[in-house]
Amino acid sequence: MKLSPPSSLSRRSFARTAASATALSYSRIWGANDRLHMGYIGVGNRGDQVHDGFLEHGDQETVAVCDLREDYMDFAVKKSRATPKKYKDWRQVLDDKNVDAVAIATPDHWHALMFNAACKAGKDVYVEKPLSLTVVEGRRMVDVARETKRVTQVGIHRRSGKFLQEAARLVREGAIGHVTVARGYHLQNEWPKGIGNPADEQPWDAEAWDKWLGPAPKVPYNKNRAFYNFRWFYNYSGGQLTNFGVHYMDMLRWCIGKDAPKAVVAMGGKYAIDDNREIPDTLEVMWDFGGTMINFVQYNANRAPGNAKNSEMELRGTKGTMYLWGNRWEIVPEKVSDSPRPGRSPVDRQMERNIGTLSEMIKPATMQGSADTAFHARNFIDCVKSRAKCNCDILDGHLSTSATIIGNIALKTKSYLEWDAKTEKFTNNPAANKWLHYEYRAPYKLG
Ligand SMILES: NC(=O)c1ccc[n+]([C@@H]2O[C@H](COP(=O)([O-])OP(=O)(O)OC[C@H]3O[C@@H](n4cnc5c(N)ncnc54)[C@H](O)[C@@H]3O)[C@@H](O)[C@H]2O)c1
Repeated sequence: MKLSPPSSLSRRSFARTAASATALSYSRIWGANDRLHMGYIGVGNRGDQVHDGFLEHGDQETVAVCDLREDYMDFAVKKSRATPKKYKDWRQVLDDKNVDAVAIATPDHWHALMFNAACKAGKDVYVEKPLSLTVVEGRRMVDVARETKRVTQVGIHRRSGKFLQEAARLVREGAIGHVTVARGYHLQNEWPKGIGNPADEQPWDAEAWDKWLGPAPKVPYNKNRAFYNFRWFYNYSGGQLTNFGVHYMDMLRWCIGKDAPKAVVAMGGKYAIDDNREIPDTLEVMWDFGGTMINFVQYNANRAPGNAKNSEMELRGTKGTMYLWGNRWEIVPEKVSDSPRPGRSPVDRQMERNIGTLSEMIKPATMQGSADTAFHARNFIDCVKSRAKCNCDILDGHLSTSATIIGNIALKTKSYLEWDAKTEKFTNNPAANKWLHYEYRAPYKLG
């Protein structure tokens, strides 16, 4: 990556230490009780939760924290067992030989740059979802992870939830028959003011704001663009479709055992909210996964249940429906008959009236459990030591993220887009392909 070095670090020392760290980490053989030395880049809302997840485990030690906010770093230092170093420049974390692995929880537009540089510096990486801002970035991240032989975990933590692992296996084994429709719901009512409409203002620190923007276009500071609220702006995020939608896409894709869609279409807009967000408040996206339609529903309206069970997700199969929440599942089986559907007669209608309903609802099997971030962290630590693939390896993170990103492209281009998963390009709309990446602000380059 060709970034200009930070003032406190020379270009030569950055390159030299990155190379030596690579050699060091490759040759390490881990003992089961060895402590993994972690560096945390981005310790805001999610970074703090991820840090908490890792702190659950005695064989991790926080040795470095990095953020553009001093108060966030101090907060992270306070809850650490040892006294980690504080770095304002993320490249210094990569330069720190005491750091074995990093957790990246900065806004989405920074993930690819930091991830690729971390891999090249010989660090194993836990990176938050959505994996990337663009499809091109995500593919490059997969390649870099493989070239550098790094252990990678994408923060789609449902993959480490025991009961959700069981749910995915059951669906793949045919428990609900052939799944024709799978759906994820993001129901929120932010009407009328949403995130408000604050005026641009002076940043808390001009240099830090420039660093926060990184490869994104230089714009005046607006508090809605920065901490937490960046997810409502396209230069830093793909909106709720890549924010919540990527969790749902990943779970549903995992259940049906398919990598990528054949086509996508989307419709939506800013229908209800009066604020300065760029992303739609109301959206529906549909993907054709070849025999299964996946659907993401984002409604900004009264939060009446999206389905009969008010679940986050549902998979409707020929033999039943599976309802999924963050940490449990439930199947409502369907009574099916092998004989062809008969024509209806007045006698059938009388029978229906007598028994109330034709579909016999069998008592659902409800499972409880947890999809805690701590399980996902545990899996990462174990895999760093064993060099096995994590539960949400970089490739799965990329496949799920890119499916949601192309939903946004369908919305932007108002089109039905056919997707070639091999080349990761649209085949029926060349103009849409220009949205697969964007030009970084100088001097940032995708490494
Ligand atoms: N897995 C999940 O369920 C989940 C939940 C929430 C957020 N996330 C993801 O976590 C990421 C962060 O989201 P958030 O809600 O924590 O946002 P946030 O704004 O609260 O935190 C981001 C932090 O990154 C820091 N940062 C930004 N640029 C930096 C730079 N160049 N160098 C060092 N630090 C920098 C900011 O100062 C901030 O503290 C996003 O990608 C988001 O999608 C995942």
